[in-house]
Amino acid sequence: MNVLITGSSSGIGLEFARLYAAQENSLILVSRSKQALNEVKQELITKFNCKNVRIIPLDLSKHGSAEELHKKVPDIDILINNAGVGDFGECVSMPIEKISAMISLNITALTELCMLYGRDFKNAKKGGVLNVASIAAFQPLPYFGAYSASKAYVLSFSLALAAELKEYNVTVTCLCPGTTKTNFFSAGGRAEISQEKGIMSASTVAALGKSGLERKQLIVIPGRQNRFFALAAKLLPHKIVLGYAKRMMEEYR
Ligand SMILES: NC(=O)c1ccc[n+]([C@@H]2O[C@H](COP(=O)([O-])OP(=O)(O)OC[C@H]3O[C@@H](n4cnc5c(N)ncnc54)[C@H](OP(=O)(O)O)[C@@H]3O)[C@@H](O)[C@H]2O)c1
Repeated sequence: MNVLITGSSSGIGLEFARLYAAQENSLILVSRSKQALNEVKQELITKFNCKNVRIIPLDLSKHGSAEELHKKVPDIDILINNAGVGDFGECVSMPIEKISAMISLNITALTELCMLYGRDFKNAKKGGVLNVASIAAFQPLPYFGAYSASKAYVLSFSLALAAELKEYNVTVTCLCPGTTKTNFFSAGGRAEISQEKGIMSASTVAALGKSGLERKQLIVIPGRQNRFFALAAKLLPHKIVLGYAKRMMEEYR
């Protein structure tokens, strides 16, 4: 199978690449850093004897990047929309360009890739999409507001797309991880978060996402505590959820 993974130079995306490489798939790896992608490619060749690894250095926050990618790689079986970024801080004090770039990556690129490859999958009557959202998709997070809203979009969009494409034998799964040990928080300027105790490993999260896609699950929330938070956010009144979230997030303002 041809598997395209965005954000596969580190973290959860890298673990997806390792899992699919171990099963002799052909991989298309996308992220901005050519050097990091080359290192991943070498690792997959050496460790898993993976013969077909194509790397595509591309900034998916740039306008037109999804179409560029689809033109370069028209034929895939599985799309993993994993690339994503997030910054903490008081929304009104953050640089507008940073938030816009985050929205372009987390929302626009993901949507356009789902549309472009989703059409192909619909016509072929087969294919799988795994979109990586977050546990933050289930409740608004003060001081992480635009990020949590972008992931709420990913969750809602994925579920609607799943319902539309089901009749064409196309699966759409949304993975909603809680805090996971990756570079995500260093990119967002809070590296210490990924050092906290009890945080899930990226390999566990990727494995759960992959098996969720294979079992045609709509939503995968790794970890019992995260599933509890998602349920509580759904059942409790907004005022209570927001008050709790604001207290929890205060240190990131
Ligand atoms: N870690 C967590 O606690 C956590 C929790 C919930 C959800 N998530 C989600 O999980 C996904 C993966 O994140 P991660 O935790 O594995 O973080 P990560 O280690 O920082 O990985 C992010 C990946 O995305 C790529 N990327 C970033 N900006 C990009 C751009 N503009 N264009 C193309 N690729 C780009 C990065 O490579 P380059 O820098 O080379 O571009 C990297 O490969 C994200 O969608 C994130 O929101 C993470």
